[in-house]
Amino acid sequence: MRGKFITFEGPEGCGKSTHSKALAERLRARGIETILTREPGGTPLAEKIRALVREETGDAPVASAETLLFLAARAQNVARAVLPALERGAWVLCDRFADSTFAYQGFGRGFDLAELERLNAFATGGLAPDLTILLDVPPEISRERLGTRQNATGEKADRMENAGRLFHKAVRDGFLALAALPENAGRFAVIDSSGGMDRVSAAIDAAVERLI
Ligand code: TMP
Repeated sequence: MRGKFITFEGPEGCGKSTHSKALAERLRARGIETILTREPGGTPLAEKIRALVREETGDAPVASAETLLFLAARAQNVARAVLPALERGAWVLCDRFADSTFAYQGFGRGFDLAELERLNAFATGGLAPDLTILLDVPPEISRERLGTRQNATGEKADRMENAGRLFHKAVRDGFLALAALPENAGRFAVIDSSGGMDRVSAAIDAAVERLI
């Protein structure tokens, strides 16, 4: 039987990486083979594309090139990592997927959603998540968490993180608008991620339980 495909989405600093790792551990503890991947990234080529889209250089990609780079990374990750795992029955957790393209390049950069859907379908061969966990946080918390992380790790903000307040507000509102679309009703679990780790984990488990 094919495995389940769960994506984690949300604005910067929403806790996707922490919660996707924690869920992978809980699923493995239940004996479910689980792989954790991320976008952009997940294969050696896609990780190179990740570095390209995030770095601040004199030659930043124009918005259409940025979109195609994210989609190229997705095509590679789906074909090389996600689909083979699902087909052997493993569950796949993905830290960001197509909804990030719709939120960042659609609502953020202003590209037409129907066009992005066509391009995304070309990249994924039509693969869609069984469940999308949207970890929602307001922009102030998002900025605060990013600042804390950067202070702790010494990392500088990347090109996407530097895109400005209005852009990030449009992205956050865009994720919520995507979750509210009638065609997405059964797929999204929207979870307030400004609360404590335990409460958010419990809400994630409740959403995942519906798949088991
Ligand atoms: P993150 O996964 O560490 O948050 O970094 C990925 C960055 O790339 C983040 O700023 C969101 C952005 N992104 C897009 O703009 N479009 C996409 O399709 C994906 C997957 C990510």
